[in-house]
Amino acid sequence: MNNRTFYITTPIYYVNAAPHIGTAYTTLVCDVIARFKSLEGYEVKFLTGTDEHGQKVEKAANDADLTPHEFVDKMSEKFRFLARKINATNNDFIRTTEPRHYASAKAFWNKLKENGHIYLGEYAGWYSVRDESFYSETELVNGKAPTGADVQWISESSYFFDLSKWQDKLLEFYKNNPSFVMPKWRFNEVIKFVESGLHDLSVSRTTFKWGIPIPGDDDHVMYVWLDALTNYISALGYPNVNAEDFKKFWPVDVHMVGKDITKFHAIYWPAFLMAADLPVPKQIVSHGWWLNGGEKISKSLGNVIDPLELIERYGLDQFRYYFMREMSFGNDGNFTYESFISRTNSDLANKLGNLVQRTLSMIYKNCNQAIPQIRGDQLSELYKSTPLLIAAAELFEKIKAEFDLYEFHKALEFIFHFVDDINAYIDTNAPWELRKSNQEMMEKVLYVVLEAVRYAAILLLPFIPDSANNILEQIKVPMDQRTFECLNMKFALKSQAIQAPVAVFPRIEDDHS
Ligand code: MSP
Repeated sequence: MNNRTFYITTPIYYVNAAPHIGTAYTTLVCDVIARFKSLEGYEVKFLTGTDEHGQKVEKAANDADLTPHEFVDKMSEKFRFLARKINATNNDFIRTTEPRHYASAKAFWNKLKENGHIYLGEYAGWYSVRDESFYSETELVNGKAPTGADVQWISESSYFFDLSKWQDKLLEFYKNNPSFVMPKWRFNEVIKFVESGLHDLSVSRTTFKWGIPIPGDDDHVMYVWLDALTNYISALGYPNVNAEDFKKFWPVDVHMVGKDITKFHAIYWPAFLMAADLPVPKQIVSHGWWLNGGEKISKSLGNVIDPLELIERYGLDQFRYYFMREMSFGNDGNFTYESFISRTNSDLANKLGNLVQRTLSMIYKNCNQAIPQIRGDQLSELYKSTPLLIAAAELFEKIKAEFDLYEFHKALEFIFHFVDDINAYIDTNAPWELRKSNQEMMEKVLYVVLEAVRYAAILLLPFIPDSANNILEQIKVPMDQRTFECLNMKFALKSQAIQAPVAVFPRIEDDHS
């Protein structure tokens, strides 16, 4: 029985526009974490999906001359397709237009109402359709939202959630859970915001129709963020809190979000959940934004990068590697074609790809097309006396420590330092020289190299799964031994025949201009 479970979610994506590298990145990061946890032996639920209601989507449907239903069906499919294209292992995909979500969002509303946290009033204030967010007068900067989005004055009848009453409870909760929001400095921003005072939140709208009708009052549709946040429990079977998935996976382990939507997840969502008598998330993890050549990516600047095009042109694992390696997590990252090409060529093609290729070629040619035979006593001797294997055995703990802090680029840096060490070991021990003088020694050296490659490839599985599996296939690691539990001498490579090696990473010969 597996009782270690892990639940991770991406935000659900607005379907007003096609996916871009920013949205693809959030899904990718979650996939890397989901895979890492699976390899550690957790039962993982990984949820992604689409946020299909609200004024912004309604407007985009109008602009496209489609009904909202036709429009969201078409656009949602693009996000589902992208998740498959980036090899995401999500085992659910939720749409807010699905019946299961309607049932859950309405039940959640009723619960808030029953518990006395919702009342009818009049809203008059600023609203940004782009952010789908209300702003107070004091938050505006030069007449715009703090995000730079345009705002409009709205005045209408509205239901309110009594957010102002939750200030102290939230602050107390934050105090008791110092890692609730990662990175820490983002958490400080959240705490400051709450300390500065919370206003009751308008949670329904009457001036458009594209949303979930409020139970018992069809003139109102639910505020899109209240609707959207509920997706995380709809997918577990809420309101049935005895549903198997709900019991197994709630509270969620990680809600991954971009910096722009941290407030909704770290302030509104826990307040809603507390008000509905439900446990709050264990952690909100907030990442920075991708810029294109230092500039904000936006349709109006015409600098949107299509992830599908990048994958098609340069390869999926090149894409996955670059985005995980280049962003120092939490901060903004800067995409350029030059760094994409040089990073993937240097690390994947030159360092790792060449290493595997030249080692397997030497073995294929000089060791009877088979991984060299190492006796049990020799193996433990090798493990004790070879610094490279000593380092290999210590690598997992180092990587895990970085992973737990969401320092993915550092985890990859460690793995590639290790790949450098393997390359240095070959150069120092020069098996091509030994071939002439000491066949046994040459075989030992080549074996050590391949055994070290086994560690690197298993650790790379969450990041570049196809290529890492390709390497493991070529060095004959059985399918059921491709987990972190096997990162030790007990699962060392056995002597067996190999096929003629096949290059894993083609060099990108493209000076994109
Ligand atoms: N629908 C809401 C989320 C509701 S979750 C209950 C939403 N959708 S979004 O499509 O606008 O954004 C989804 C995610 O993409 C956010 O986490 C956002 O930060 C991320 N990104 C959008 N542009 C980005 C970059 N340029 N770079 C990195 N991530 C970015 O917000």
